[in-house]
Amino acid sequence: MTTKLLIDTDPGCDDAVAIAAALAHPDLEVVGLSTVAGNTTLENTTRNAHAILELLDRTNFPVARGCDRPISRELVSAEDVHGPGGIRGDLPEPTAEPIDAHGAAFIVDQAREYGDDLTIAAVGPWTNLATAMLLEPALPDMVANIYLMGGAAMTGGNVTPEAEFNVYVDPEAASHVVQHARPKMGGLDVTNRSTVAAELIEDYADRDAPFDTIAAWFGYEDADAVRERGIEDPPSVHDAAVVIDIVEDIFEYETYPVEVNTGHGPSRGATICDTRGTTGEEQTVDVAVDVDLEAFRTTLAETLENL
Ligand code: RIB
Ligand code: CA
Repeated sequence: MTTKLLIDTDPGCDDAVAIAAALAHPDLEVVGLSTVAGNTTLENTTRNAHAILELLDRTNFPVARGCDRPISRELVSAEDVHGPGGIRGDLPEPTAEPIDAHGAAFIVDQAREYGDDLTIAAVGPWTNLATAMLLEPALPDMVANIYLMGGAAMTGGNVTPEAEFNVYVDPEAASHVVQHARPKMGGLDVTNRSTVAAELIEDYADRDAPFDTIAAWFGYEDADAVRERGIEDPPSVHDAAVVIDIVEDIFEYETYPVEVNTGHGPSRGATICDTRGTTGEEQTVDVAVDVDLEAFRTTLAETLENL
């Protein structure tokens, strides 16, 4: 039984690995991508999404452009991490165009079409997902699952000491999602540890397309650099871990109330996980608290060989 999957994404190197893994896994049927501003501008994330699909010879997928900025903040991007234009590696200049529908409307349309056959993975800022939930408040009850990459429930952030990037960029969207979506949240608690072996990255760097480009995505740097110096400390492929969890259950979850700090101070975007039940709030978020790294690495490597 395959899982129909919609990925909301801001490619982004680790988003690209997540998309490649989703396209290659036999138990996943990608129904489309919605793009959001995050790692880079919406124009770049949408172009990058098409370029990834064309690199992988999967061009018959709808890509819907979503929100070009957070709900009520200026966009903070991460091109310093993901490279100029928001992605690294040798990618074709895409020829495809996005569909006419807005990304948030596309999410709603796919939920109405596929219902509880559909799983949604939001691996960029949750702006499109929150907007879709405002358009269709019943969305969380319509689909099978909503998986999130984001948050830092019981660990430090990667933008500030408190906040993970996807939540930091759009705290208002994140707050709405954790309060109303009953999501499965794969945060830095598990994705920081979700790395690939340096040997795999160096092996890919010496292979033909698309693997040399995937090496660049793994390492968040150009494949030449990987060939020349190798990867001493492989970075985390956050988004890919969430996609692999959908099919391989690599995460262990505990359910808690979660609140997002929507202030403008040093705690902006903090995800506060009420592990002691002190708030009396309903436990609505499945928080990933552990990851089977071996299962992640094995499944990802095996899956990508199907490309
Ligand atoms: O904090 C990691 C997240 O931020 C990932 O989704 C990565 O792509 C960046 O968007
Ligand atoms: Ca991302």
